[in-house]
Order: sequence, then structure tokens, then C-alpha cells
Amino acid sequence: MEKNALLRLVNVTKRFPGVLALDKVNLEVRPGEVHGLVGENGAGKSTIIKAITGAHSADEGEVWFDGLKLEQMSPHKSMEIGIACIYQELNQIPHMTVYENIFLGREELSLKKIGWTDRARMRKESIAAIKSLGLDLDPDAEVGALGVGKQQLIEIARAVRTNARLIIMDEPTAALSEREANQLLGIIKDLRSKGHAIIYVSHRLHEVKAVCDRITVLRDGKTVETREVGTTSIDDIVKLMVGREITNKYPKVKVEIGKEMLRVEGLSRKGVIDGISFKIHAGEVLGFAGLVGSGRTETMRALTGADPVDAGKIFVEGKEVHIKNPRDSINAGIAFLTEDRKGQGLVLIQTIEFNSTLVNLKNFKHFGPLLDLKYLKLIAEEKVEELKTRTPSVNQAAGNLSGGNQQKVVIAKWLLSKSKVFIIDEPTRGIDVGAKVEVYNLVNELIKNGAAVIMVSSEMDECIGMSDRIMVMYEGKVTAELKGDEISQEKIMFAASGLQSEKSAA
Ligand SMILES: Nc1ncnc2c1ncn2[C@@H]1O[C@H](COP(=O)(O)OP(=O)(O)OP(=O)(O)O)[C@@H](O)[C@H]1O
Ligand SMILES: [Mg+2]
Repeated sequence: MEKNALLRLVNVTKRFPGVLALDKVNLEVRPGEVHGLVGENGAGKSTIIKAITGAHSADEGEVWFDGLKLEQMSPHKSMEIGIACIYQELNQIPHMTVYENIFLGREELSLKKIGWTDRARMRKESIAAIKSLGLDLDPDAEVGALGVGKQQLIEIARAVRTNARLIIMDEPTAALSEREANQLLGIIKDLRSKGHAIIYVSHRLHEVKAVCDRITVLRDGKTVETREVGTTSIDDIVKLMVGREITNKYPKVKVEIGKEMLRVEGLSRKGVIDGISFKIHAGEVLGFAGLVGSGRTETMRALTGADPVDAGKIFVEGKEVHIKNPRDSINAGIAFLTEDRKGQGLVLIQTIEFNSTLVNLKNFKHFGPLLDLKYLKLIAEEKVEELKTRTPSVNQAAGNLSGGNQQKVVIAKWLLSKSKVFIIDEPTRGIDVGAKVEVYNLVNELIKNGAAVIMVSSEMDECIGMSDRIMVMYEGKVTAELKGDEISQEKIMFAASGLQSEKSAA
């Protein structure tokens, strides 16, 4: 055991009903090091973090920080002793501004006892924090109106602003574009050079490789190993995480392209998206690439009636449809798996079974009331099995699942709907390397069954690896459409930054 560890966990065990989440976990983080924490969905990463900050109390074991044994901790107390944390679940106060969220701790926010002069100071300091990190954030914007990517940037600014000795980041880049993610990696390196220690949790293993000094691998709540990153390859990490090798990361199948399933003409919403037109056929996967904020999610929201539109026509199988709200969209055969699973995708206090079958109750009616319930359960269980969702049973509340496993429930919910067009927005965000392949296999199933799939993805490799055709967006407009041999990382980057090559300008 190291004498000069900044943080030390000794045999930490945590049980939830039916789940041994942490099983005698040991972890040591040195001052000034970036320590990666990796493992499959449900391996226990977030639970370790919560045991450190006191969001959960451990059942057994000890946590030491800077020579001090931590007892009776709470997130607030942990901030006071120099531990800042960006939790995996974003939890801002939606009706408050960006600067208020950056500045305040949760408790202060609910007190609402803040005077004018304090506000001016808060705003000023928040602006300074945003500026020093080089983030693209409007301090006066209302948080609830921002996308998850921006909300993630707020969390980062908040954690960094506290100047804590240990900064814990639980999947901070899950909602960020490549460019923003790279920016964060720069911020982390800068923090390290100033002597801060960082715990970095991510399923994006190339980031882990790029920024971490050491990693600790978790499997089924147990520490597998701690290693120097310099001598460990990404394939090594995967093997340690899942206990086997993954040979084909993007198992895209090609199926015969069928009839036109969806056609969008001139979809516009003032100041957000401008004249979006595209078609998609049965058996096709159409990727949407672009930076966060380029209008991809906004296009999908407009298309599915989640946001109002100013102009545009939508045709499903050649027939014009009028979509005024998400219900109309489902009825028209267009399913939308949103990027924000907490806000839009799941009813967290309800069970997995409830959530998986929520959109599809109609499909089960003909079985009669009694059989129905049994059937629902069976179906939900089947999907849990298929996606390897880690849970004691389908009766578990969705909110009790790990982040990645919640995402799997959202996916199950939509796959069970009998839709013709599936829009999946960042489908594998926060999902571990092994489970990603399961999600891609489900996309394969959908197109084999004659559906059309629109995939919004900020992961370039995924977008290239799984799409037949790619639309690139920039500032609310489509700047390129690429297919076959035209698809390359370079061309996508080019169009995503608003530059137009002669070839794709046509
Ligand atoms: N409040 C809770 N009640 C019951 N079970 C829980 C609770 N929180 C976590 N668990 C369970 O503990 C296990 C570990 O979960 P944890 O969130 O730590 O995983 P993780 O490694 O962070 O996964 P991910 O990569 O998906 O975020 C999971 O099986 C999860 O379902
Ligand atoms: Mg987690």
C-alpha cells in the first residue's frame, strides 16, 4: 500500500437489495495523477464515486482522504474537504441560469436567499470560470432550455471552479462532441499540471488512454487490477473489462434497400434549423454527424413533434403526415429514442417492465387483460436478456439501474414499438464496449425487418462504422451528404465545421 496516496479505499463493500454493487473494492489515487476507472455497465464505477463523496454510505470498508478517515460523509461535506464531483446524472436546476448553476451548491440553490450584490459577484466569477476554460456557454441562459451537452459543460465549470484537490468526473464527455471532449482533456491535463488529482470514468477508452496515468478496472463490483496506462493498450483494457476480446466493433450488415420510408422537405424552425430535406429507405441506416449544437437533435425533435416548426413537409411511405406532437409521430410510425434519457426517456420511479412496454401497450391489447400482464413481463425480460441489462429483475425501478443500463431500457422500449422509422439519438452514449455491439446488432435487426434507422451520433467511428449514408449538419443546415466511398473522417470534419468542399457543395 502506498504511503502518500491522496485517496485510499480499503475493502469497500456496498449492497443494494438483490445487488452486491461493490465487493471489497480497493483503490488508491495519488496526488497529481489522472486515475481512470473503467468497467462494464453496472460494474460499480458510479457507486464507488458515491461512496467517496458520501452520496451513498458504504456498508463495510474505509475511505481515507489526505490522511483523514472519512466518516458520515455527504456530498456537501466532501466539497468542503476538497473533493469535487461531476455526477453521471446531470442534476442542474432547470429554471435557473447557467451562472447560478455554476456558482452554487445544491443546498444554497434551494435556499433562495441570495441578494443583488451576491448575484453580481456570482455572475462575474462564473463568467471568469467559463472564460478561463474556454467554454462556449451563455451565463444568462436558462439551464432547462439547453441541451445535455451544454449542461455537461456547466457541471465541468462548476467542479473546476471549486479548485478541489480531487476532482471526480463520471462520464463527463458522454454528452460532448469530439471537439468539446478534446477541449476537456486539455483542461484535465492542465489541472494535473497544477497538482490536482482526477478520477476519470469513461466508456470512451481512447480518452482514457490519452489522459490517464493509471487505470483501475472493475468487474462485477470487484477490482480486477490497477495498471499503468503507458504499458496498457486499449485492447488490453477491453479484455480486462469484459473478460474477452471484441473483434468486430461495428458489425454492420448490408441489406437490400427498399422503398422510401420517410421523406422530409424543407423542415425549418426559425433560428434553429433551416430547410432540412432528406429521404430514407427501408433497410437503410442514415447517420447524422455534426458538432453538438449543429441542429441534429433539433431536427429530430421538430420531425417528431417535440418542438413546433415554421415550415416543412413530412411523408411516411409516400403519404404526407401531419405531426403536431410526439403521439402523432408514434402513430405515423416514427419512433424517437432521445439523447436525454433522464429528462425524456424513462420514468425513473417505475420498473423496467413498465418502462420497456410503455410506448407499446397498444400492441399487447389483443391478449386480454390478464394474459397481457404476463406477456408484458415476458417481453421485458426477453429484452433485458438480449441487451444484458444488469438487474436483479424487471421489477427493479429504472432509477436504481446504472447509467448505461438505463439506456438499455430506453432502447428496449423503442425496439418493442412496431415503428417503420427509428430515430436513435446518441444510442450508445454511456454504454460499455461490449454492450455497444449488442445495440448495433439490434440496429441490424431493425433494418433486416424492413425498418429505416436514423442515427444521430457524435462518435465519428460509430457514425462511419454503422451508416449507409451520412448527412452532416452545421448551424442548423445540412452541409454535406456522403455515401459509400465518399464517407471519410476528413470530409465529415470539414462539413461539420461549416466548410464546403467543391465536391460536396453540389
Ligand atoms: N440506488 C440503487 N438501488 C439499487 N441498485 C443500485 C442502486 N444504485 C446502483 N445499483 C446497482 O449497483 C450496480 C452498480 O451500479 P453503478 O451505477 O455503480 O454501475 P456503473 O459501473 O457506474 O455503470 P455505468 O457504466 O452503466 O454507469 C448495478 O447493478 C446497479 O443496478
Ligand atoms: Mg455509472
